Amino acid sequence: MWFFKRKGSSGFSSSSTAEKVTHGIDASGLTAIVTGASSGLGCETTRVLALRGVHVIMGVRNMAAGRDVKDAIVKEIPAAKVDLMELDLSSLASVRKFASDFNSSGRPLNLLINNAGIMATPFMLSKDNIELQFATNHLGHFLLTSLLLDTMKKTARESDIEGRIVNVSSESHRSPYPEGIRFDKINDQSGYKKFLAYGQSKLANVLHANELARRFKVSCLLSFFLEKVSGST
Ligand SMILES: NC(=O)c1ccc[n+]([C@@H]2O[C@H](COP(=O)([O-])OP(=O)(O)OC[C@H]3O[C@@H](n4cnc5c(N)ncnc54)[C@H](OP(=O)(O)O)[C@@H]3O)[C@@H](O)[C@H]2O)c1
Repeated sequence: MWFFKRKGSSGFSSSSTAEKVTHGIDASGLTAIVTGASSGLGCETTRVLALRGVHVIMGVRNMAAGRDVKDAIVKEIPAAKVDLMELDLSSLASVRKFASDFNSSGRPLNLLINNAGIMATPFMLSKDNIELQFATNHLGHFLLTSLLLDTMKKTARESDIEGRIVNVSSESHRSPYPEGIRFDKINDQSGYKKFLAYGQSKLANVLHANELARRFKVSCLLSFFLEKVSGST
């Protein structure tokens, strides 16, 4: 289809592969966390980051599936640096444990790829009693990001390399409930529509990414300004 081949300003199109986009990049020395790395986009993201030299921590709920993916990657790329850590994004306790274990490992963190997701599930509640798609796709990643931010900032300061947080959203962010995010009705089973609830959670991913970008732009400008001021005294 012609529109899959139409190139954007990056020079790539939606038919460009991860390998093509990262061709020629040596990313050794970087560390990434990829959530939902046991299948689909997360699995391919992990493979290609590892191919480019990144040390990837796979945040996975299904450890057996994660181990299979890791083994396949290491078989294809013997020098790959890939580790597994258990992470269930639908459980705030699991997210806290993952972040605490990661932070106390002393590892740096350059890239956080918030990829894991579920789509259009029947109405269910998470372990914390929150509608499952919103809990998994947005809240788990929101908490994870917040808990890893200090480590990412420290890594960026020490390495002088900007970090990146990637929220994998969807075109469905354009199709949430008519009122957008139903903050006061997140758990309303009677009005639940599984595709609109998916759109709502993906809209939250976009808003979260926008707000992170806004805050970091402000704080980068502020530290640049402070550096200039302290350098001139
Ligand atoms: N594929 C597409 O066409 C498409 C289009 C637009 C957006 N997206 C977005 O892209 C992302 C990846 O989608 P995909 O197509 O690759 O889906 P997928 O193949 O179903 O993979 C989803 C991954 O998320 C994991 N996951 C689900 N619930 C989890 C939880 N509670 N805790 C931790 N991990 C969990 C799954 O792990 P388990 O193995 O444990 O289930 C799986 O590894 C999603 O955010 C999706 O919304 C995909």
